[in-house]
Amino acid sequence: MNVLITGAGAGIGAAIARELTDRGHRVVVTDIDETAALAVAAELDTLGVAVDVTERASIGAAAERAEAAYGPLEGWVSNAGVSSMYPFTDIPEAEWDRNMDINAKGVFLSGQEAAERFRASGTRGVIVNTASMAAKQGAAPFLAHYVASKFAVVGLTQAMAAELAPYGIRVNAVCPGYVATGMQTRELEWEAHLRGVDVEEVQRLYIEDTPMGRLETPEDVATVVAFLLSNDAGFITGEAIAVNGGAYMD
Ligand SMILES: NC(=O)c1ccc[n+]([C@@H]2O[C@H](COP(=O)([O-])OP(=O)(O)OC[C@H]3O[C@@H](n4cnc5c(N)ncnc54)[C@H](O)[C@@H]3O)[C@@H](O)[C@H]2O)c1
Repeated sequence: MNVLITGAGAGIGAAIARELTDRGHRVVVTDIDETAALAVAAELDTLGVAVDVTERASIGAAAERAEAAYGPLEGWVSNAGVSSMYPFTDIPEAEWDRNMDINAKGVFLSGQEAAERFRASGTRGVIVNTASMAAKQGAAPFLAHYVASKFAVVGLTQAMAAELAPYGIRVNAVCPGYVATGMQTRELEWEAHLRGVDVEEVQRLYIEDTPMGRLETPEDVATVVAFLLSNDAGFITGEAIAVNGGAYMD
């Protein structure tokens, strides 16, 4: 299937692009960081496009290029996201806006684009949104604005799934745990600073929080995204699947 992935220049998105390519799918690698998108695309011998998921026109132009190159899109992974860490009362309004714009509005705008294209081509397409374990359990320290944006992703996933099911379009989310990516490296440093401990201590806490006893890899998430896109998951829609080694079980 033809699948466009946002935020695929690094971390979980790049792993999803590699996993889908390995399974014989055609991916279009998009990221706000054009250099990163083009590097992953070159590695996978496919199209890379700069996309800012907060800009409708940017998303639309990338989808247009993808369909011109490879034909109708059949899958869409809205994975782009950002985080930052602050004690609740110190969260700058601008950080609230940035997290909501990229993490929540970005999934909304991407979802509209995907759904419109699936309907226009008569494709029973599949959308997967990257949420977070912080979308199911709000007690994540220093991340209130991120938590709000990711709860929004799960709500949106359920609403989209219900409205798009009559068109045969499925919409699900994945909720990763403590995944070793650039985002995690930044969070380790912020949290160490905010708690007044060293980075190794915070990493130890992340592992301690994870019953499976290790940090998550981007590939742990990528294989579940591949499953949700596949016909094996053909009767699953509106779900937010935890992929977190048991972390934050409630
Ligand atoms: N790393 C974790 O522990 C973890 C846990 C749960 C959920 N997630 C979620 O997984 C997704 C991927 O995170 P990651 O850990 O791979 O992070 P990452 O920082 O390694 O990669 C995120 C990518 O998104 C891109 N991006 C940022 N803003 C963008 C925008 N406006 N438009 C398009 N692309 C943009 C970045 O350039 C980057 O390449 C995010 O939605 C994140 O919230 C991550």
